[in-house]
Amino acid sequence: MENIIALCKRKGFIFPGSEIYGGLSGTWDYGPLGVALKNNIKALWWKRFVTDREDMFGIDAAILMNQNVWKASGHVAGFSDPLVVDAKTQKRYRADHLLEEAGVDVKGMTLDAMDAKIKELGLKSPEGNALGDVRQFNMMFKTHIGPVADDDSISYLRPETAQGMFVNFKNVLDSMHPKIPFGLAQIGKAFRNEIAPRDFIFRDRELEQMEIEYFVHPDNWRAVFDGFFEEQMEFAKDLGLNPSHIHKVDIAAEDRAHYSSCSVDTEFDYPFGQKELFGLAYRTDYDLQKHIEHSKVDLSYFDEETKTRYVPHCIEPTFGLERSMLAVLCDAYTVDELGGEKREYLKLSPKIAPVLVAVSPLLKNKPELVAVARTVYADLKKRFGRVAFDDNGNIGKRYRRQDEIGTPFCVVVDFETLEGTKEMANGLDGNGGGYAPGTTDTVTIRYRDSGVQERVAISELADKIEKLIG
Ligand code: GAP
Repeated sequence: MENIIALCKRKGFIFPGSEIYGGLSGTWDYGPLGVALKNNIKALWWKRFVTDREDMFGIDAAILMNQNVWKASGHVAGFSDPLVVDAKTQKRYRADHLLEEAGVDVKGMTLDAMDAKIKELGLKSPEGNALGDVRQFNMMFKTHIGPVADDDSISYLRPETAQGMFVNFKNVLDSMHPKIPFGLAQIGKAFRNEIAPRDFIFRDRELEQMEIEYFVHPDNWRAVFDGFFEEQMEFAKDLGLNPSHIHKVDIAAEDRAHYSSCSVDTEFDYPFGQKELFGLAYRTDYDLQKHIEHSKVDLSYFDEETKTRYVPHCIEPTFGLERSMLAVLCDAYTVDELGGEKREYLKLSPKIAPVLVAVSPLLKNKPELVAVARTVYADLKKRFGRVAFDDNGNIGKRYRRQDEIGTPFCVVVDFETLEGTKEMANGLDGNGGGYAPGTTDTVTIRYRDSGVQERVAISELADKIEKLIG
């Protein structure tokens, strides 16, 4: 984990939040490569779950919502974690984490049971001090809207994106007229005042979720639920995750969120243990019914075919962006030996690597090589976007640098390229006329994982890379 964190900082993926002021626990800033990786994951998700489907509608709801949303949803009353305080230092800890570290299986444990167990075992805080009683700690960040800080102006930074979709259910029905089954999808920030943020970007106070609320007739929930689990597995494959690191975990009734009557988590083998990656919940009609009750707005659906009116039930596949990214980084992080030298690099899938191709002239002081490389670079950049021009250092160093950030393909223009054809010579007219590749001109393409190189005609290069993305 330390090596991954160091690589992420060194190469501009992830920095500690507010670092020059000593940081802010549970927050992280994403550098140029981190934001590129995040955006690629989000784009892949959006394509699979929204644009490739006919039954999905995108939403981008406000982060700040009327406080009644959170009263209705049950988050004001129940979105909490078990907190225990060190009696001497007043430091706060998650009671379930302290128990787990002491070897206790906390699955299904109530607050009182945790309290009793801590006392029975005589557990102390990590500093060795006595612990107070276990109590609930609400994890929503509270704020006030406008200049007056009273009860009426209370608002919360949303702890899940889901509610933005439930409160817009009627707006989408009225504007888009979808037929059930259909889903709403959203990618956005969520905030949780975690008692103990930890494990790099695994448990954050500011996070990003990719969520779907999929509305069905109550009789059809099971098939849709199972279908979404398969879709989650497909998405894990898209990310390039190793299937043997992924585990399906049925969540027992006593451990489910208050809105769920069936939950399946997808867990991943992180270096710090097997932990949650994605979630899948059958939220029934819990949320829509609660919003009907609290807002007094009719959120039912009329089925034109059967001439029946009902409140739809909801299946919720949810994906944490940071956890997806962390799983990707953990599985991609590789140390091996190439050409007799140790190499540390990221085996990222070409679907999401921040840089897909790096284009280089073999030597940067040969204008004819640079001119051709610039043309190849410009063409690939136009087609794929995620393309870098790299002429720093010698070619071996460039390969290592690109390997380290996970670039799957390096393209090099060398003297053999120049031997290509007469068109080459004609193309480089010395008057800025540039270079038009001849049909027989070739470059080398080098594959990150094997280090193998092959010659490819420039005219076939982009199509070849497209195929390699898969
Ligand atoms: N709308 C349902 C919901 O929010 P959740 O299991 O509490 O369910 C959904 O969160 C996903 O968000 C999780 O599967 C996880 O990937 C991610 N997540 C939750 N809390 C997180 C945190 N503190 N830091 C990073 N990701 C988190």
